[in-house]
Amino acid sequence: MKESLILIIDEDRDDLIALAKCFSTDYQVVSARSGKEALDFLEGSDVDVILSGLRINDMSGLDIFSQSRVTRPEAIRILVAEHHDLEAINREVSDGAIYQVIRKPWHRTALRLMVRRALESRELARRHRYLNRALKFSDAIWDKDIGNPHASPKKSLEFDKLVFVSESMMNVCSLAQRGAVTDLPILIQGETGTGKELLARAVHAFSKRRDNLFLVQNCGALPDELLQSELFGHKRGAFTGAISDRLGLFPAADGGTVFLDEISDVSPAFQVSLLRFLQEGEVKAIGSEKTRKCDVRIIAASNRSLKALVEAGEFRRDLYYRLRGFELNLPPLRDRVEDIPVLAEHLANRYAESIGRKILGIALDVMRRLKAHRWTGNVRELENEIRRMVALAENGEFLNVKHLSEELAAIDGTLTSGELPFDQRILNSGGTLKETVERIERQMVSQALIRNKWNHSKAARELGLSRVGLANKIKRYSLDHTLTLAKIAGET
Ligand SMILES: Nc1ncnc2c1ncn2[C@@H]1O[C@H](COP(=O)(O)OP(=O)(O)OP(=O)(O)O)[C@@H](O)[C@H]1O
Ligand SMILES: [Mg+2]
Repeated sequence: MKESLILIIDEDRDDLIALAKCFSTDYQVVSARSGKEALDFLEGSDVDVILSGLRINDMSGLDIFSQSRVTRPEAIRILVAEHHDLEAINREVSDGAIYQVIRKPWHRTALRLMVRRALESRELARRHRYLNRALKFSDAIWDKDIGNPHASPKKSLEFDKLVFVSESMMNVCSLAQRGAVTDLPILIQGETGTGKELLARAVHAFSKRRDNLFLVQNCGALPDELLQSELFGHKRGAFTGAISDRLGLFPAADGGTVFLDEISDVSPAFQVSLLRFLQEGEVKAIGSEKTRKCDVRIIAASNRSLKALVEAGEFRRDLYYRLRGFELNLPPLRDRVEDIPVLAEHLANRYAESIGRKILGIALDVMRRLKAHRWTGNVRELENEIRRMVALAENGEFLNVKHLSEELAAIDGTLTSGELPFDQRILNSGGTLKETVERIERQMVSQALIRNKWNHSKAARELGLSRVGLANKIKRYSLDHTLTLAKIAGET
């Protein structure tokens, strides 16, 4: 920190020297014997403390203080006065914004301590002002980004390793977070590459099981008997090829989470075994008579609608209801175009870093094409495209159209629907008048809530609603602020 500068003003030479001596070891000290000299100095220098007697040759110390409020508003003003003067100056003290009045004879240690404390509290007040400003600024960015396709792609939301800005992802992640703290089974559905496994890992990471294992089993890849033995274990000799005992995934993950991917592909016989496990919490290895308890949370995923399979008679209804303690549906990437820029930047940075390449960013016409593509393979397809582009780019280059795959380069890079202003996108998204009005209402209510940090009174006032009216809307649109809190917690 810079050394503080103290200006001492007194007509008496001895008083001046005594005061200067009191501070000269710790601060820069300048002295003045007339008001004019003092005011000239104040005009051109960044003085931190002004210490003045009451009577100076050509003017009163109080006048110097009042004038210095204009040139040096932040300076700390201390008046040194005789005892008999105190009564008289009482009224004028506030005009000069005086910090303290010191009575003569002053005590050296007390005076030094007072100046030090005054400088410290001024510094704290400065920092407080600065942080307040910084906080207001970051609030503004946070608000602007929600649902605004033009917002800087830098400011994204995160849930564990999932990155997004869209409201639909915010709702899924918020529900996932609420589900995570319960111990209920979770069913995650979504097209291929939408992030089902990443979300399952996030749920585990936010659950009380986070310090135990998270094990993955792809149920679509194995014939029935092998799948049973993978999950429940087997005894030696239970079937051909079972040359030794094998501990299944369920007992191995005791206390943790098992992620059953592609659950829609399992046989009716396996569905029965899984249902029994979910009901009883016990496993029996193939070829064994003994059951053993195991405490495992199941997260199942499917890229086909289990409900539709139940309706078609291809999946057990009772198992479906068991699995969907919480049901999370990940939207396809083409339905959340606003996530594409943040994902593209995130994936490009991550991959560039992993291969030690410096990428300056993604060119605007590339971003337009990325936003216009249909992404049937969702985030995984986007990830592959970005990875390829980063590999082709030179060090210190932007990712531009020449790095795109042929299919993407062929896309017309003019304005995409995702770049239209938000209200225009709502109007273009189809549906009846009532549905469109509801979509706008939902957006306005959630933005007002976020803007007012979920203070219901303030948000209601801004929207011209009663508190009860606002509560009804929150309920009706299932608005929730847990994700905002999670984000704040994640940053600390
Ligand atoms: N929101 C996201 N933020 C960052 N990365 C993501 C996001 N969503 C998906 N990914 C990445 O995309 C890839 C595909 O994700 P994941 O494997 O979780 O999808 P999936 O739905 O399980 O796919 P599949 O149905 O094909 O098994 C992964 O590399 C993952 O890291
Ligand atoms: Mg997967």
